Amino acid sequence: MDTPTPLVAGNWKMNGTSDQITEFKKLVQLLSGNSSAQCQVAICPPFTLIAALAAEGAESVHVGAQDCHAELSGAHTGDISAAMVADAGAKFIIVGHSERRADHEEGSELIRAKAQAVYKAGVTAIVCVGETESERDAGKTEDVVLGQLLISLPDDATSTNTVVGYEPVWAIGTGKTPTVADVAEIHTAIRGALVERFGDDGHMLRIIYGGSVKPSNAKELMTAENVDGALVGGASLKAQDFNGIIEAYRA
Ligand code: PGA
Repeated sequence: MDTPTPLVAGNWKMNGTSDQITEFKKLVQLLSGNSSAQCQVAICPPFTLIAALAAEGAESVHVGAQDCHAELSGAHTGDISAAMVADAGAKFIIVGHSERRADHEEGSELIRAKAQAVYKAGVTAIVCVGETESERDAGKTEDVVLGQLLISLPDDATSTNTVVGYEPVWAIGTGKTPTVADVAEIHTAIRGALVERFGDDGHMLRIIYGGSVKPSNAKELMTAENVDGALVGGASLKAQDFNGIIEAYRA
């Protein structure tokens, strides 16, 4: 059976002014200097840097966005639509990141509407799900994650327009990660749910892991069962570190 091409995506979050473009250029250089990695690579900078990074015209690194509005245009002061970031050069848009869910009280219905807007703009959605520490301690990880996924994913999700990001909230930016066995267990449960809902295409839908991924733990996390790449926050800000994570996909 075919297997999905892995995706290693960096999420710069609310970090980076024009100085940070240098790191993007360094990354492109590092990727061209190394034997090619068997994965797709993307950087999701703040909105303000999307056009500048896309203008670099790098073939080895796609540009993405970290969020979008659920509508493609209209009277929504201060918001940015999927059509706008697509026009600026974004090929991926993260929706449902736990920081959006927590800071802006975004629920799974809204995330689904955002994912639909992403599809309409012709871009790939990275739909994030993940449990909090207390949910994990209560043994509810699978229920929470599969519950979020059921509502957050539109019925017309496919392996082309969607990537699932599993990010345990307690592992984000903390240096803590689940064990490889725990990651494999939940990714396998997600795979089961995807296949049940989307049939064979569910096997090809990428499920990427996020939460304190670094060069030192990337290889073991990325080789866990049903892990098709990484969503990387802090370690994506430095080209050298991010390249060290991509290293997991070099022969
Ligand atoms: P981190 O963030 O790599 O800094 O833990 C991951 C994320 O939020 O996507």
